[in-house]
Amino acid sequence: MNKNFYITTPIYYPSAKPHMGHAYSSIIADFFARIKKIQGSKVFFLTGTDEHGLKIQRAAEKKNMKPKDFCDEISITFRDLSKTLNLSNNDFIRTTEKRHFVSVQNLWNILENKKEIYLSKYSGWYSVSDEAFYSDDEIIDEDGIKKSKSSGSLVEWVEEESYFFKLSNWEKPLLKYYEENPNFIMPESRKNEVVSFVKSGLKDLSVSRKSFSWGIKVPSNPNHVIYVWLDALTNYLSALNYPDTNDKLFKDFWPASVHLIGKDILRFHAVYWPAFLLAANIPLPKRVYGHGWILSGDEKMSKSKGNILDPIEIIKKYGLDPLRYYLIKEVSFGNDGNISKEKLESCINSDLANNYGNLCQRVFAFNEKNLKLEIPSKIKFNDSDLVILNNFDKNYDNLISFIDNQDINSYINFIVQQLFTANKYFNDEEPWKKKGDEERLGTIIYVSLELIRKITILLYPIIPTSALKILNAFEINENEIDFKSIKSNNFLNLGQKIKKINILFKKIEKND
Ligand code: ME8
Ligand code: MG
Repeated sequence: MNKNFYITTPIYYPSAKPHMGHAYSSIIADFFARIKKIQGSKVFFLTGTDEHGLKIQRAAEKKNMKPKDFCDEISITFRDLSKTLNLSNNDFIRTTEKRHFVSVQNLWNILENKKEIYLSKYSGWYSVSDEAFYSDDEIIDEDGIKKSKSSGSLVEWVEEESYFFKLSNWEKPLLKYYEENPNFIMPESRKNEVVSFVKSGLKDLSVSRKSFSWGIKVPSNPNHVIYVWLDALTNYLSALNYPDTNDKLFKDFWPASVHLIGKDILRFHAVYWPAFLLAANIPLPKRVYGHGWILSGDEKMSKSKGNILDPIEIIKKYGLDPLRYYLIKEVSFGNDGNISKEKLESCINSDLANNYGNLCQRVFAFNEKNLKLEIPSKIKFNDSDLVILNNFDKNYDNLISFIDNQDINSYINFIVQQLFTANKYFNDEEPWKKKGDEERLGTIIYVSLELIRKITILLYPIIPTSALKILNAFEINENEIDFKSIKSNNFLNLGQKIKKINILFKKIEKND
């Protein structure tokens, strides 16, 4: 089994500062990166910014700035956001970097040498906002204004000399690939969309533009810049030092394990990207997962709609881990979801403060009062203790497969159930009534601490900062976290001291 795991987020357009939708993709990718790491994989996690094309050129013009200066200014806000979100990314790529130019031009040359690219003329619709070409039947006319049906963005008519990629040649091979690799596109509903799009017939794809210059030049014809999507998608290779296919990073991590994206850019990742790779004879990524949208009301939250929620403000007010927890748990993964301050507050109170926070607080406080923060030294599990503790061992294989299938919803449901069980255990066992029975008292505390430890390991990829506070109290450091250890019922050393903990999550009162 290949233990290496390469996960990517989309590289975001630095046309405006990041919003909650970008934070969402990044947090989900970080969740997978962290969990694979504690499961023992070697992980490479990539994010970055997509800086060429007309969309960026026009955004820079509006500000009277040179595109590169404009990108420098906004790209840094995306980089800062990845720090604010506590992402464990290994690299942050910008498509204006030299390493990326080299990689894109190399891929172009391969495609041109293989006669997969030819010069002709494009005439048709183009959306600058989506950086996408649309056919007539993908356009609607609203009071004389032409828009893309799928995204609602404005389209303009383009007629110019352009290089084309022979996408039409790859219709059959793509369909064959989808069939032979049924989990290439996930979730299932997205896959069906893609398959019917490809079955409806693929036309050759315009892959260069001549009427503006902000991009990577076509090596054999510098009057053209390479289509921004061919440029952008190649970032996934550039970060691994492609075209040096003997480079250790490339060897270790290509093909990518998961390209995590929003469903808005599925066609680029599940049709164009694999077609370019097939044509260049480069192995295809193992999976493209198109998640749903964060909505604002019932519209997609987006820069162009101006209905955005700023993740930085939310984090300032509520903290990072509550936001991470909310997005991972309350937005059913794969589907669209909402975030509002009210919903976030109620999630913080019910799940984080009352459930997880309260469990840790009670057990640690009770231990402090009765055993001076010592892990009990005399214990004996009874059958019902074992049933509860063994839940983790029993569900271990399920948990692994939830992660490998990107079934975040089942993963977190398991955690919530165990939290409920652990709280109930502590209530029902009434350790405060067992003060004359040292062994039973000690056992209840020990079992409760073990449950906290196991649950906290499961929570670590979701709320790393808070989880580490608890794990550190057990003298477990970040680089020692081992997912397998949730199977053990005797991980904590008898008689060892644990550290005092502070309140993890403050309950939000109505008038806060
Ligand atoms: O498309 N809900 O960049 P982009 C959930 N540069 N996720 C959202 C979202 C929302 N409301 N809004 C944005 C591009 N996202 C290209 C990508 S990749 C080679 C090039 C997330 O700035 C989601 O992942 O428009 C979506 O696919 C991505 O940001 C689009 O970001
Ligand atoms: Mg977009």
